[in-house]
Amino acid sequence: MFKLIDGKAHSARLRGEIRARAEKFSEACGRQIGLAVVLVGNNPASQVYVRNKIKACEEAGIKSFANYLPDDATQSQVEELVTSLVEDSKVDGILVQLPLPKHLDEKAILDLIPVEKDVDGFSEQNIGRLCMNRDCLVACTPNGVMQMLKAEGIDLKGKNAVVIGRSNIVGKPMAMLLLNADATVTVCHSKTENLKEICRNADILVAAIGRAKFVTADMVKQGAVVIDVGINRNAEGKLCGDVDFDAVKEKCSYITPVPGGVGPMTITMLLYNTVCAAERSCKL
Ligand code: GUN
Repeated sequence: MFKLIDGKAHSARLRGEIRARAEKFSEACGRQIGLAVVLVGNNPASQVYVRNKIKACEEAGIKSFANYLPDDATQSQVEELVTSLVEDSKVDGILVQLPLPKHLDEKAILDLIPVEKDVDGFSEQNIGRLCMNRDCLVACTPNGVMQMLKAEGIDLKGKNAVVIGRSNIVGKPMAMLLLNADATVTVCHSKTENLKEICRNADILVAAIGRAKFVTADMVKQGAVVIDVGINRNAEGKLCGDVDFDAVKEKCSYITPVPGGVGPMTITMLLYNTVCAAERSCKL
């Protein structure tokens, strides 16, 4: 029998804690915690994400500062905006929604965000600190996975963890977090040979590929913990993960569904990082 990891329930519990910390911050520091969100252009998926992030802030008692620039905004317009947010003492965290329009230099823009306001955890400094297992702001999606594994009491020490996907946003920080938790980590990607055999050896399997039903039952060890980070749409437009859930679930000890697994935790961890950043700046 497998246990479903309920991301909505984990998320609700954490958001309660975040709200309480945000209230305490307001009383102690005489202002609300502030998160600045920057959206450039009109990518429909990004618009939905940003709307959801702003709504989540409101519900958590965090003040959001929404900043929208047009699709044809220049590099210097975006840089000026980000710089003004860096200098604004009411802003504890800055989030530049990705992807940016093609003509913009994404790295130069993200490099303007100082490590202490980098609530996405994308900066070189935060990633470097993560690699060295030092205190840092951790990318939201992999941090959400770790929070769920911890809350479920899943032991990682000495276990074989396999991460499929090596993106800077998910795969790489996920691998580092698992390594820091004493798992033995293998990172697989599109050029990996013997992928099936490697996955079949995984006690913890994290799928972050971006291809529907990529992970099939013959890739999963009996009793494995399977974490599905994928958000794909199938031919009927229905949301589905990277794991063939119905075929894989019976082999698992734990599995996350899509939707309702990792997804709800991503925004929760953004709120969590924002609260951590604010508390540090206010020396709480
Ligand atoms: N685009 C897709 N995921 C993310 C994320 O976690 N943060 C930002 N800033 N942009 C994204």
